[in-house]
Amino acid sequence: MLTRAILRTMCLVACFAINIPATAAETPAERDARMQWWRDARFGMFIHWGLYAIPAGTWQGKTAGTGEWIMDWANIPVEEYEQLAGQFNPVEYDPAAWVRLAKEAGARYIVITSKHHDGFSLFDSAVSKYDAVDATPYGKCLLKPLADECRKQGLTFCVYHSIMDWHHPAQYRANPDRYNPTGVHPERKREYLDYMKTQLQELLDSCDPAVLWFDGEWTDWWTEEDAREVCTFLRELRPRIIINNRVGKGRQGMDGLNKDDQEYSGDFGTPEQQIPATGIPGVDWESCMTMNDTWGFSSSDENWKSAESLIRNIIDTASKGGNYLLNVGPTAAGRIPEASVERMRAIGAWMQTNGESIYATQASPFAETPWGRCTRRTLADGSTRLYLHVFDWPQDGQLTIPDLPGVPQRALLLAGRQPLEVTRQDQAAIIALPPSAPDPVASVVILEYAQP
Ligand code: GLC
Repeated sequence: MLTRAILRTMCLVACFAINIPATAAETPAERDARMQWWRDARFGMFIHWGLYAIPAGTWQGKTAGTGEWIMDWANIPVEEYEQLAGQFNPVEYDPAAWVRLAKEAGARYIVITSKHHDGFSLFDSAVSKYDAVDATPYGKCLLKPLADECRKQGLTFCVYHSIMDWHHPAQYRANPDRYNPTGVHPERKREYLDYMKTQLQELLDSCDPAVLWFDGEWTDWWTEEDAREVCTFLRELRPRIIINNRVGKGRQGMDGLNKDDQEYSGDFGTPEQQIPATGIPGVDWESCMTMNDTWGFSSSDENWKSAESLIRNIIDTASKGGNYLLNVGPTAAGRIPEASVERMRAIGAWMQTNGESIYATQASPFAETPWGRCTRRTLADGSTRLYLHVFDWPQDGQLTIPDLPGVPQRALLLAGRQPLEVTRQDQAAIIALPPSAPDPVASVVILEYAQP
């Protein structure tokens, strides 16, 4: 049963349909099958790693924007910036430990920067000497061991790849305004497209990523036609690959969803540093977020979000039908900062008990949940579970749900499976809770229904 408010929202959304089309030859059922693992995963770990981890957010005494943009905001010439490669020797890099941490946190996939805007590749590229193998004392591919570890430990490996490239000679840093900083020499654009496609093929061949997470598509010279060329190329090689909407021109700023009902390339929207206000029926999206204020490592950024707010962000995102992609920025030596490790472990402790209320769930059926958030899961036999994530544990031990749909067969606490009594008062249901919350961040009440 849907409330009027939800129907209104669905209607509005249908009018402004944020249309992320399937591939040309794909039926909706085929698309659902292709997207299934990603929709079920709900939580991933993002990794921003590259040469920028060496200056770690400070250049000639100045600390400004995010760590990975340092080449731009400190206005470092290419010849000077590329010298950093000679110092990049991440001897502490332990891909097995990184994957273990992600797994312990409850992440189901990892997305790592194969090449950020600075143009440096973390993998072995035959078309560039500016990569981890050829240009660094470390001399080894950084991605393949991580991809192999993901497979070994049961996580899905994915890559981020920047379209904008401050190092490739076809592009030049055109604009002091850092949000549109590359132009392309028109006569060399084809050369760059071919370079990009070769690098993507190299990534598929060596690491077989399940998602290609593009970025830097906002430069004026990149077109929707270019996006279609790259998507067609990738899908011919890997028909089941998932591609984000930053491959094309649809993304509307940081809210990350597509602008209008035109058909744009890509499979999912990419809100950045924010979670949409409501769920968006029929649209796949993933909110990516930093734990502090930078993607690439910064030695001075201590503005860490609490574990509580990160856990509640995962819940909030799932309650709106989206995925949460949480970033870590390893040091130049190859260590994930301790503050990030602590937070990933705290998330893991919560997920260990409560993961059932996150994975493979759908958006909340309620318009408002002042006590917290709600997710929903339909099982193969048609029965349904509502997961009520209670943030504010009621002092009087009574959780009132004003508009509870249907009659639940059973109510219980997820932690410990303690049965709970439900009484009805007209449309409302009152659930009797124990005096103290099982978890101070979010405790989950399950309502079981025989039908959808
Ligand atoms: C951005 C930034 C970038 C970061 C990314 C993550 O657009 O340019 O540094 O990699 O988003 O979403």
